[in-house]
Amino acid sequence: MKKIAPSILSADFARLGSEIAAVETAGADLIHVDVMDGRFVPNLTIGPPIIRSVRKTTKLPLDVHLMIERPERSLDQYIDAGSDIITVHAEASIHLHRVVQAIRESGCKAGVSLNPSTPLSALDCIIDDIDLLLVMTVNPGFGGQAFIDAMLPKIARAREFIDRRRPSVVLEVDGGVNVDNIAAIAGAGADVLVAGSAVFHSDDYGKTINLMRRRLDSMPR
Ligand code: DX5
Ligand code: ZN
Repeated sequence: MKKIAPSILSADFARLGSEIAAVETAGADLIHVDVMDGRFVPNLTIGPPIIRSVRKTTKLPLDVHLMIERPERSLDQYIDAGSDIITVHAEASIHLHRVVQAIRESGCKAGVSLNPSTPLSALDCIIDDIDLLLVMTVNPGFGGQAFIDAMLPKIARAREFIDRRRPSVVLEVDGGVNVDNIAAIAGAGADVLVAGSAVFHSDDYGKTINLMRRRLDSMPR
């Protein structure tokens, strides 16, 4: 079953609690939380205290995407804040295996994300140790960017790679997902579709998520 994960990056942060309640009512499966440090990516967003508050406002799993350098330095804070899935970037940590192990030992699910320019082969030696692979389909840092079309075959290759090496790994796609392209992205093999601006900048979150869901349900897999 394909899942939809609204990214709160495009929500109104001044009304974050009600924005999250609204997407939960609208049928979101996960809440995607984008953490940016102004170093790994040229933007700064939120950190553990806000995640802790968000945790109290929703029963949905918190899918925390760390776009931060050296995530091992502050990992414990994201675990303690109530994350369910913690995804780190392969490009951000020298000791990726150690970070992934620490995430799993905490009881959280461990994800690894790849920037558009990073090949899937970066995961060759770690695929057996992760729960989720996040393929970035924009350069991370900002919401509202256009989906990079050249990432569609990468998603398909990621699907093959997972099916061949470790079928339990969830394939998540993040960046530029919208009502018009969601079926093609799911068709290429994505299990979880992150959508920020397509949901939060729409007039009716319920209508948008329902429409996305209908497009996903029309997919064969
Ligand atoms: C980008 C973030 C995404 C972003 C997606 O760096 O990781 O999660 O919020 O936003 P849209 O869906 O607007 O591309
Ligand atoms: Zn993200």
